[in-house]
Amino acid sequence: LASQNESINAVVIGASGGIGTALVSALSKRPNAGRIYAASRNPHEDARQNVIPVQLDLENESTIECAANQAAEDGPLHLVIVSTGILHDSTVHPEITPEKSWSALNADQLMRVFAINTIGPSLAAKHFLPLLDRDRRSVFAALSARVGSISDNRLGGWYGYRASKSALNMIIRTLAIELSRRNRNAICIGLHPGTVDSKLSAPFQSNVADDKLFAPAFAATRLLEVVDQVTPEQSGRLLAWNGLEIPA
Ligand SMILES: NC(=O)c1ccc[n+]([C@@H]2O[C@H](COP(=O)([O-])OP(=O)(O)OC[C@H]3O[C@@H](n4cnc5c(N)ncnc54)[C@H](OP(=O)(O)O)[C@@H]3O)[C@@H](O)[C@H]2O)c1
Repeated sequence: LASQNESINAVVIGASGGIGTALVSALSKRPNAGRIYAASRNPHEDARQNVIPVQLDLENESTIECAANQAAEDGPLHLVIVSTGILHDSTVHPEITPEKSWSALNADQLMRVFAINTIGPSLAAKHFLPLLDRDRRSVFAALSARVGSISDNRLGGWYGYRASKSALNMIIRTLAIELSRRNRNAICIGLHPGTVDSKLSAPFQSNVADDKLFAPAFAATRLLEVVDQVTPEQSGRLLAWNGLEIPA
């Protein structure tokens, strides 16, 4: 996408998050940046000319549909990145912490994690995939996580987060199959950003070596490089920040 001469229109869902903020910033500075729609629950005015704040709550489908309609007004989209997610929610839901044991499994907690991490991005795909350009290369990417890999799970724990990301990975794979039949220029992938310094990772950073904790701007740059280079054969896969595929 970076090498396309024509301008690219992009949407970042979760534009208020650590990684989402950095993605909007990196995209808005690209020479071929068209309109960058920055979607979040509580959008603020933005001084950047090409950044358009949009309201969107993943738990309210009509706001997803409205945001998609707004983004469609300026023609087809070339990049949609869903950068939302929860692992813990100490301010609004102090009861949501990653489960260390099966004894901590709780229906309300599991449903909330699935609502944000799996169902929300699925509904975003429902409304945004039809807006991808049919004549030029375009990418829909959702931030997932390595811990959603079933074959890579050796440590256990974090039941809800892991399972919600595994389910998201399956949704992405299934979307990619349908997308290949509907729009041969479009690609759908999951992305693992590495461990990134953000609100989401803050309580879990103590065991992470300094050189393994990425700044959001670094993660955004690497994720956009992956998006720029991803091939149609890789559609449906989960790719890490360094471009390597993570097995399901
Ligand atoms: N940070 C890491 O180390 C790491 C590692 C692996 C994977 N990831 C994944 O990367 C993605 C981004 O994480 P991050 O580190 O940037 O986390 P973050 O800073 O906590 O951002 C999370 C974002 O999700 C949004 N969100 C939550 N519920 C929402 C809802 N109902 N509707 C709309 N937006 C909602 C938040 O919006 P509000 O501002 O409105 O709350 C915020 O923009 C997540 O999918 C995460 O699982 C992160």
